[in-house]
Amino acid sequence: PQKETPSQWTKEQVKATLPERDPNSHKGSFGTALLIAGTKEMPGAALLAGLGAMRSGVGKLVIATEAEAMAMIVPRLPEATYVQNGMQRIAEQLASVDAYRAAAIGPGTEPDRMTEDALSVLLESSMPLIVDAGALSRRTYAERQAPVILTPHPAEFSRITGVAVAELQKHRADYAAEWAERLGVAIVLKGQHTVTAFPDGEVWINPTGNSSLAKGGTGDTLAGIMLGMLCCHNDWKHAVLNAVHMHGACADEWTKTRSPHTLLAHELAELLPEVWAAFE
Ligand code: APR
Ligand code: MG
Repeated sequence: PQKETPSQWTKEQVKATLPERDPNSHKGSFGTALLIAGTKEMPGAALLAGLGAMRSGVGKLVIATEAEAMAMIVPRLPEATYVQNGMQRIAEQLASVDAYRAAAIGPGTEPDRMTEDALSVLLESSMPLIVDAGALSRRTYAERQAPVILTPHPAEFSRITGVAVAELQKHRADYAAEWAERLGVAIVLKGQHTVTAFPDGEVWINPTGNSSLAKGGTGDTLAGIMLGMLCCHNDWKHAVLNAVHMHGACADEWTKTRSPHTLLAHELAELLPEVWAAFE
C-alpha cells in the first residue's frame, strides 16, 4: 500500500541543526576521517570526495587509494595524507582503521572481492560508515553500534535490492524505507528529490538540487561532504540530511547565474563555503 509522502528536510531545519565551530577547537576536535576511494583508472573520484570532505568541517583527512591516484590528487589537495594502496592494505588488515571518527568507502572503486573484504573490516569498527558506489552490493549488514549509510543512485539501489530501476523509481520513498528497515541501515536514494530513509522508519525528502548534478563525479562529492559532516555534527542523522541538502543547495547556487549544462563536480566544493555561510 502507498504510504504518506514524507516531509522535506527544509532550509530552516538545516539552519537549526548545523554545528558551530567552537572558538577553542583544534583539528583533533573534529576527528580524522578515512576515505577509501579511487583507483588508477578512477583517481578523480577520490579527489572529488576528498575536496568535499575537507570543505565540510573535518579535522584531518586520510585518503586510502592507489599509488597512481595519490600522485594525481596531492597537487590539488595537499591538505590530506594517505594510506598507499589502502583498499588492499585495509582488506588484508595491514592498515589500522581504529583511529578515525568516520569513514567512507567506494567512490571510484570496483565492486570486487577486495572492496568487499575492506568493507567487512570497516564494519567491525565502531565508527559511522558511508558505503557508496563500488562498495554497494547485495549483502546484509550485521548489527553494530554505529550507523551504516548507503548512498546508492537508482541503478545501484537496483543492484542492492534486485528490484528493477523503473519499479524502484515509481515508489522511491517506499522502497528506501522498506530496505532501510530490512537492512538496518540508512539509505540515501539519490536522484531528483533524494530520499533519506533511516533504519528507525524516519524518512525525509530533499528539496534542493537540480539537473546540473546529472554529471559524473557529483555523487563522489556528496560522499565526501557527508563524511566531513559526520565529523563535525553530534547527531549523525543531521549530518546525513544536511550534507544532502547543502550539496543540492550548491547546485542551486550554480544555476542562479550559470547554465545547468555546465557544472563540473569539483565546482560544488568551490561553491560550498558561501552556500554554507548562508545557512549560518
Ligand atoms: N536532479 C537533482 N539531483 C540530481 C539529478 C537531478 N536531475 N541527477 C543527479 N542528481 C544528484 C544525485 O542526487 C546525486 O547526489 O547528483 C548526484 C549523482 O550521484 P551519482 O549518481 O553517484 O554520480 P557519480 O558521482 O557520477 O558517481 C560516480 O560512482 O556511483 C558510481 O556508477 C557511478 O561510476 C559512477 C561513479
Ligand atoms: Mg556515484
